[in-house]
Amino acid sequence: MVNYKELGLVNTKEMFARAVEGGYAIPAFNFNNMEQLQAIVKAAVETKSPVILQVSKGARNYANGVLLRYMAQGAVEYAKDLGCEHPEIVLHLDHGDSFETCKSCIDAGFSSVMIDGSHLPYEENIALTKKVVEYAHQFDVTVEGELGVLAGVEDEVSSDHHTYTDPEEVIDFATRTGCDSLAISIGTSHGAYKFTPEQCTIDPATGRMVPPPLAFDVLKAVEAKLPGFPIVLHGSSSVPQEEVETINQYGGGLKAAIGIPEEWLREAAKSAVCKINIDSDSRLAMTAAVRKVLAEKPAEFDPRKYLGPARDNMEKMYKHKIINVLGSDGKLAK
Ligand code: G3H
Ligand code: 13P
Ligand code: ZN
Repeated sequence: MVNYKELGLVNTKEMFARAVEGGYAIPAFNFNNMEQLQAIVKAAVETKSPVILQVSKGARNYANGVLLRYMAQGAVEYAKDLGCEHPEIVLHLDHGDSFETCKSCIDAGFSSVMIDGSHLPYEENIALTKKVVEYAHQFDVTVEGELGVLAGVEDEVSSDHHTYTDPEEVIDFATRTGCDSLAISIGTSHGAYKFTPEQCTIDPATGRMVPPPLAFDVLKAVEAKLPGFPIVLHGSSSVPQEEVETINQYGGGLKAAIGIPEEWLREAAKSAVCKINIDSDSRLAMTAAVRKVLAEKPAEFDPRKYLGPARDNMEKMYKHKIINVLGSDGKLAK
């Protein structure tokens, strides 16, 4: 059993309280490999932002959970080495699917876990989330619950339509489970294909596809029921069209990939939304850079020559999110 405090990590409590108060959101970036981790930590240090490192079940299968935990410990030391005296780095389990998974992460040094019971009947979601909270809080680990179902693939369960969070349930859910933050469903979804072109309209000024609006009325109603309570948005990649174009220009085959407009996320970050999850944009930034190098220099076979540019491109994207979308730059406590 390792407690995250021994690793120099922090939980989400204080950073969320400051984010809700200050009208900004903390970035929650998924990572699976060293280059992503380096880019995230560098971006957070250079912008003086707190950051949440997210590990999904897929990441644990890909990279090994134990190794990822040591990488997060390394991230704290790396941030210090880059000149940040008091980094605020959370190691968070993304979409925990059972009590056992959450427990094993807590025991291994995670400072925060998500228990995703959103596909369960309401009372079962409450019972499972409460059980995780009771265990996690013994070790000062914070817990994210979820109410409402995102369309697309979530936790290996697929849903072809959103079930928006019911604002009438949130007080009961938060009170009975004791969770520290709540992920809600207002029309975002996972992956690079969040909307079909048929669902979108064309902005005549920019020629950009504009998706159907998010349910900001649901967010406002949740906020009214739980004033000051930390709200989380999953599925918040914006799917930058320049990355999609680069991928396709250099041999890729992405079709009509459409994400959440950044101005909508900026608006959400000013509300009770204090954690915004981004994974797909990092995948796109990495893939675009790798494809470009390999297409332009077909004789190249040193991975550093394509993973290096991929890392730089991700870092640029993370900084952009922190500064221009979430507003968490300069928000370290010390
Ligand atoms: O919520 C989903 C995240 O993007 C993680 O995706 O399960 O493929 O690692 P993954
Ligand atoms: P995106 O697929 O929009 O990046 O969402 C990631 C996410 O919600 C991770 O939990
Ligand atoms: Zn998610």
